[in-house]
Amino acid sequence: MKNSVHYFPTRLFRWFLSQQILASALFFVVLCGGLLLWLEATTLEPEVRRMIRHAVLVTLAISFGGMIVISLAMARRLVVPLGRLIEKTRRLREFQKLEEHEPEALTFDEPGEWYELERALNRLGRDLRQKTIRLSREKTELRAIMSAVNEAVLAVNSEKRVMFYNPQFAYLFNQQSAPKGEIHITELLRSPEVLQIYETALQGGDPVRREVQITVSDERQARHFQLSVAPLRKKHNQEIYGAAGIFYDITELKKAERIRIEFVANVSHELRTPLTAINGYLQTVMSDFEKGHTEQAGEFLKIVAGNATRLKHLVEDLLDISALESGKELSMERVNVQDLTEAVIRQVRANSHKVHIFYDFQEMWGDPKRLEQVLRNLMENAVRYVPEGRNIEIRWARKGDEGFELHVKDDGPGIAPEHQARLFERFYRVDEARSRATGGTGIGLSLVKHIVQRHGGQVHLHSEIGRGSEFICEFPGQS
Ligand SMILES: Nc1ncnc2c1ncn2[C@@H]1O[C@H](COP(=O)(O)OP(=O)(O)OP(=O)(O)O)[C@@H](O)[C@H]1O
Ligand SMILES: [Mg+2]
Repeated sequence: MKNSVHYFPTRLFRWFLSQQILASALFFVVLCGGLLLWLEATTLEPEVRRMIRHAVLVTLAISFGGMIVISLAMARRLVVPLGRLIEKTRRLREFQKLEEHEPEALTFDEPGEWYELERALNRLGRDLRQKTIRLSREKTELRAIMSAVNEAVLAVNSEKRVMFYNPQFAYLFNQQSAPKGEIHITELLRSPEVLQIYETALQGGDPVRREVQITVSDERQARHFQLSVAPLRKKHNQEIYGAAGIFYDITELKKAERIRIEFVANVSHELRTPLTAINGYLQTVMSDFEKGHTEQAGEFLKIVAGNATRLKHLVEDLLDISALESGKELSMERVNVQDLTEAVIRQVRANSHKVHIFYDFQEMWGDPKRLEQVLRNLMENAVRYVPEGRNIEIRWARKGDEGFELHVKDDGPGIAPEHQARLFERFYRVDEARSRATGGTGIGLSLVKHIVQRHGGQVHLHSEIGRGSEFICEFPGQS
């Protein structure tokens, strides 16, 4: 088999050769000196001595020449396998592929150790290659898993220097995709709480789980995380060499929890107000009856009935929102918007305002009951919050080729920008006291938004203080 290793270690070769030549030269010089001294000491004829000296010098010169040739061959034989080993070691260092086949058997009487050494090196190379491939595959897999994980992950060593973080962490905390150098955890997260948790895990040796608040990149408000940090131990002696933490974002959960608590508080409050009134007036009417006074009873009972109606509406609205949120299907059909508008106008009694109505089309696709609720709520608001005698405009307009829009516009007091973003939240009122006094609970616009969204549309508000308000409900066409 052809060996593809070509490296020839010239410097090594030269060194071997020079050593051998030096040793041979020394040997021949000593030998030659010895022989010449001995010759001088003999009683031979000068002519014979001259001949012998000449013969000795020629023989020694020829032998020296021969020695050099042998040294050359020996040095070459010695360094060629060494050259192969050197090249293989270099390749190994650079993770290049070594020859899979057996090394070329050496000729003449070179020791078998060369062969063994080369075989061992080949095997080492093969194992190393396989391990490197496996490791890089595992690394890729781990990286893929870590990238797929929704939670941010951060691992530090025992000195709390960053070993690893995943892309989600990089995204949340505005870092480059891979940790650069051995930065300290405090350079990434300026949160003493987080530092403390990692420290507890590193020192105590047990997993630690706690809730923390951290400001994430580009957000003004801190987010809530459930942070679980577990120590990392060496396999052979269980020594702790670092800690890995998972940041589970619970901000939305916290928000939902807050909304739920606020909702229960709001509902209880809104129920209690009319109930207190009903209770109070009924008590008064009952005691008046006992005393035989009945003059005010009718008036009081009217207030009781009014509050009972308000309670009924509140509960109905809440049930409606709940039905819409829990995905109750709409019953979609062709809706005649003129019939719908006239029905609403009859209900809201807008006689004290100037109402203008415009129709760009006659029929649209939607749930008639729900669309009626939308217009009724917007009209009730207009009648309630716009002073008497002002204008209210209802416009059913086309949007593009397929869509429809309902505009309810007034020239009332308008709504300040700071309230506009929250206006469609449940129970949100601009002026709580005033709204409540007029019977408003802050549910109406939330219901409007839910209904329009369930139709696949959205609600917009254009309003300026002192210049009126315009609510626009956009509905997509029939799909
Ligand atoms: N046309 C409008 N002009 C001025 N303010 C308005 C107008 N429509 C709504 N608002 C303000 O928006 C708030 C929220 O309205 P929404 O309809 O959700 O609740 P509400 O009218 O107070 O109660 P509900 O509709 O449940 O009886 C109102 O309290 C009011 O302050
Ligand atoms: Mg309302």
